[in-house]
Amino acid sequence: MRIDILSAVPKLLEGPFSHSILKRAIENGVAEVVIHNLRDYAYDKHKKLDDYAFGGGAGMVMLIEPIERCIDKLKAEREYDEVIYMTPDGELFNQKMANQMSVNYKNIIILCGHYKGIDERIREHIVTREISVGDYVLTGGELAAAIVADALIRLIPSVLNDETSALTDSFQDDLLAPPVYTRPADYKGWKVPEILLSGNQKKIDEWREEQAIKRTKERRPDLLD
Ligand code: ADE
Repeated sequence: MRIDILSAVPKLLEGPFSHSILKRAIENGVAEVVIHNLRDYAYDKHKKLDDYAFGGGAGMVMLIEPIERCIDKLKAEREYDEVIYMTPDGELFNQKMANQMSVNYKNIIILCGHYKGIDERIREHIVTREISVGDYVLTGGELAAAIVADALIRLIPSVLNDETSALTDSFQDDLLAPPVYTRPADYKGWKVPEILLSGNQKKIDEWREEQAIKRTKERRPDLLD
């Protein structure tokens, strides 16, 4: 999977892909993340990316041209399955979407908004999908884009090993994950559930299933509907 991320503040995206599992996935060539600085596609000598909103009001609006120029260049190089715009009024991102996108998409563009947003005509004519990571407003789409890219990349076969397997994730069967424990079995009297030390794998699996259902009922009953 190749993910091209378009940003006015590309420095915000330097961290997430330079460490740990995502870094390894990129180094191994199973995922490619290319970050583009929209300023490189600005027309004027001031590298302007935004302008005042028609009709007045607070906040600047991102210009059409730099975004279109960058996307046109990318589309001339390869086919894209989707041009995704990160926005709080988009479709709410969840694990089901991550699973589907990770399986079905080969190349995607993720556009990060800033200021008051992007000119609506980009959304009408260029963007093909709009995604929100939650009902709150971030200063820009970069952190949201990193969340989506992370969730997609970790689902690519071979990115996770047995210990980090996606099969036991929360949400994977519409259930939250059960609690986990490691050594010591007794820390200042805080004991690990006896069953996990029993060596009886069938009983352990049953216990984990029960705990997953209990936790989901308590914390996210909406998932069981
Ligand atoms: N940009 C700003 N807030 C956002 C959110 N909640 N989801 C996606 N993109 C955003």
